[in-house]
Amino acid sequence: MVEKENKSLSSVYQEKFQPDYYIRRYYSGLDAGNEFCLHNLHQFFKQAESNKNTEGAAKKVLEVGSGPVPIYIISASQWTDWIVCSDFLEQNRHKFNEWLSTGRKADETWLPYARYVAHLESENADQESAFLVLERARRSIRSILPCDVLQSDPLLGKADTLFDVIISVFCLECAACSAEEYRITITNVARLLQPSGHLIMMGGLEGEYYFIYDRKIPRIKLTREMIDSALEDAGCRIVTWEELPRSLRPPDLPIDYTAMFFCVAKKKLLV
Ligand SMILES: C[S@@+](CC[C@H](N)C(=O)[O-])C[C@H]1O[C@@H](n2cnc3c(N)ncnc32)[C@H](O)[C@@H]1O
Repeated sequence: MVEKENKSLSSVYQEKFQPDYYIRRYYSGLDAGNEFCLHNLHQFFKQAESNKNTEGAAKKVLEVGSGPVPIYIISASQWTDWIVCSDFLEQNRHKFNEWLSTGRKADETWLPYARYVAHLESENADQESAFLVLERARRSIRSILPCDVLQSDPLLGKADTLFDVIISVFCLECAACSAEEYRITITNVARLLQPSGHLIMMGGLEGEYYFIYDRKIPRIKLTREMIDSALEDAGCRIVTWEELPRSLRPPDLPIDYTAMFFCVAKKKLLV
């Protein structure tokens, strides 16, 4: 039954998810929700940078379910130049690749977000700094891979490495059809983490849908307890939890969650 439901959710994504529409509708300008995510990511990587051991192999970062959106790895690119992005849909990977290969001409949509991050990094940031952080992000991306978080190896055998940090924004609760399947996605993704590595998740609590045009796309109704217990099952422990009330985001966004969350979980040494 779950498998059948998921097949239909996958085909909804394949047929209905349009990256251009998604960007226009959900990334038309910086709002409190984006600031919440970008600020918390900046804080995490600033802390990681201060703990960094200067010797040893480059730190590796993976984003699962990037969609067509390059902004959530900007802060990571200050910490490492070894970043892999990924998504389930070919059309999203294509759009992301377009941004990657086009250069500054493709940056216009993302400049307000990049400017915000550049200001977090330096008080003297200007318009040029926004371009520079996007260029840094571009240079840091090693590849954009297919990904399916429902598979026990979400990167489908395309990466034979474990990651120090995995980022996932509004993805797992969209990919899963049930609470049980949500637990499975977390276990699958956590399998790609190094022991003591960090899984950073952002998303919406208690929401059941979002829209692509007039198509209602289902999501599972997440609570903190569900996230906590799924992480525990996957051998991870929450070390940071922040929330932002939905009311602080633009009222016209076609979403129904009650709050956004930012969660960092650390994988235990022995799982
Ligand atoms: C709401 S979008 C979020 C995109 C982006 N991370 C953001 O925050 O704007 C949900 C994303 O999940 C991806 N997705 C859906 N099913 C998936 C699956 N089984 N495995 C990995 N990603 C999936 C979709 O392709 C889409 O890019």
